[in-house]
Amino acid sequence: MIKVNNLTKIYKKNNLKGTNFLALDDVSIHIKQGVTLGLIGESGCGKSTLGRAILKLISLDKGMIYFNNIDITKYSQKDMIALRKDMQIIFQHPDTSLNPSKTILFSLFEPILIHKLMNKNDALLEIKKYLTYVGLKEELLSRYPHQLSGGQIQRIALARALILKPKFIVLDEATSMLDVSVQAQIIELLNKIKKELSVTYLFISHDLDLVNNFCDEVAVMHKGNIIEKGKVSKIYNNATNDYTKKLIEAFKILAK
Ligand SMILES: Nc1ncnc2c1ncn2[C@@H]1O[C@H](COP(=O)(O)OP(=O)(O)OP(=O)(O)O)[C@@H](O)[C@H]1O
Ligand SMILES: [Mg+2]
Repeated sequence: MIKVNNLTKIYKKNNLKGTNFLALDDVSIHIKQGVTLGLIGESGCGKSTLGRAILKLISLDKGMIYFNNIDITKYSQKDMIALRKDMQIIFQHPDTSLNPSKTILFSLFEPILIHKLMNKNDALLEIKKYLTYVGLKEELLSRYPHQLSGGQIQRIALARALILKPKFIVLDEATSMLDVSVQAQIIELLNKIKKELSVTYLFISHDLDLVNNFCDEVAVMHKGNIIEKGKVSKIYNNATNDYTKKLIEAFKILAK
């Protein structure tokens, strides 16, 4: 589904020291259709950068990106609009995933308008359908994001993505701001979506237990490189890389 070859991203000197920062260092990765891939690694190692790069939300310095065997590396923002339907991202902070000055109804209408998917009446029916699908009530439609809980907002963000019937969703710490019980409910919803709507996920997370429960495979990132990738059980129990071993060990100690 997604193939990334030798991807390099350098953040140009916009920090105080005026030095460039190599955020992705020749990253290659293959995300197979229907496989939930976890992406772990310490803060700042480049996980979000990779997620955004795959969706072409940031510019790249080198490398190739294929989506279903189509080379999208040189796609312009305009070319990407059509593909955005198929490739979505859900961010970490519930408070930034929706426009604070727009009602929930507007936020759900917007993608349908942008992609000219259907007329207004059909759109309203579709919105209500997906709202129910993510476990929310119609009365939320007239509210603003600040009038919703974090869990409700992440459900809306998911409904907003699902309306476009995406094939691939990057979940960038999408549940990490939620408390444990709400997190469990969202994971359950993500599992339902995966089964019923055949969505492939890239699941970026700090929570190795969650990755263990939710993902089929895991990729370990360190300083802009993918250093190990494989079945979750194999990596967790038989990591070959020293850094991976340390990361898993540290998590086990913290989780105690
Ligand atoms: N727009 C930017 N300009 C300059 N540097 C950036 C920019 N975005 C990210 N970086 C730097 O690139 C590195 C990788 O960032 P990234 O957000 O991809 O890390 P991450 O693995 O997602 O971290 P976290 O787990 O904390 O979310 C970090 O050192 C970060 O400071
Ligand atoms: Mg991040």
